[in-house]
Amino acid sequence: VRTAILISGRGSNMAALLAAARDPGFPAEIALVLANRADAGGLATAAAAGIPTAVVPSREYGRDRAAHEAAVQAVLEAHGIGLVCLAGYMRLLTPWLVERWAGRMLNIHPSLLPAFPGLDTHARALAAGARLHGCTVHWVTEAMDAGPILAQAAVPVLPGDDEAALADRVLAQEHLLYPAALRLAAGGAVAWPAPAAVLSNPLP
Ligand code: GRF
Repeated sequence: VRTAILISGRGSNMAALLAAARDPGFPAEIALVLANRADAGGLATAAAAGIPTAVVPSREYGRDRAAHEAAVQAVLEAHGIGLVCLAGYMRLLTPWLVERWAGRMLNIHPSLLPAFPGLDTHARALAAGARLHGCTVHWVTEAMDAGPILAQAAVPVLPGDDEAALADRVLAQEHLLYPAALRLAAGGAVAWPAPAAVLSNPLP
């Protein structure tokens, strides 16, 4: 499956996906890394790995999210993309794009959803006194960080943890979880919505 990774920043999850996809048996081919900012650090990493990159700068579109997404969609189509992984892509998507990629777009989020959707998840987990924290890969739907969950990894919150220590512990798991989840999704081992054959109960 020709897969695009969408990033806004350093792209460490992107790098983990690229590394996994080097395995010839991996069911996803990373065919494009697309950023919404020209200064996303991950672009250089992708280019160094020989992966085609594209920038569709959201700043140039201001509040016109529809126009920005139309440009993103055009790039995805031009590259023949069949699956999209959001990896630190810090831009809310409109229903228009989400609908186009329903069942073909994944996101990684740094909390055990449904706990702590949104930003500052590690600080909020600490403030809430959570004993367990982690990360989630989910299918992207219209509601932010609320799509069907594909995979999760948990880590303990340890005494003395600060935000950075907890973020590091979660990030190490993100780098294992996202490739594992992409392997399942691209290989067809998991699907959402579930295939019709699975949904239909035989009548008595
Ligand atoms: C990760 O923690 C990811 O879960 C969140 O943003 C961060 C991106 O980090 N959505 P990176 O760009 O993959 O290094």
